[in-house]
Amino acid sequence: MSHSPVHRAGDAPVKVHLEAGQTYAWCACGRSASQPFCDGSHQGTGLDPIVFTAEKDGDVWLCMCKQTSGPPLCDGSHKN
Ligand code: FES
Repeated sequence: MSHSPVHRAGDAPVKVHLEAGQTYAWCACGRSASQPFCDGSHQGTGLDPIVFTAEKDGDVWLCMCKQTSGPPLCDGSHKN
């Protein structure tokens, strides 16, 4: 068995433009082919995406290493 069901999807965050009022599902498992968003590939892992609604229009850096302690945003954990 692997130690963690979470996979690294990348080694750096990705900049994404969000639109106010829009709901997004950030991939928490790292398996999605549509990073950084969920495509349903977490099925069977026991993990679920982080669903959030953008409060304003703008660019944000979304975590790709899936180690952030403040999902869905990058907190610099990919450097560890
Ligand atoms: S595919 Fe990763 S959380 Fe859904």
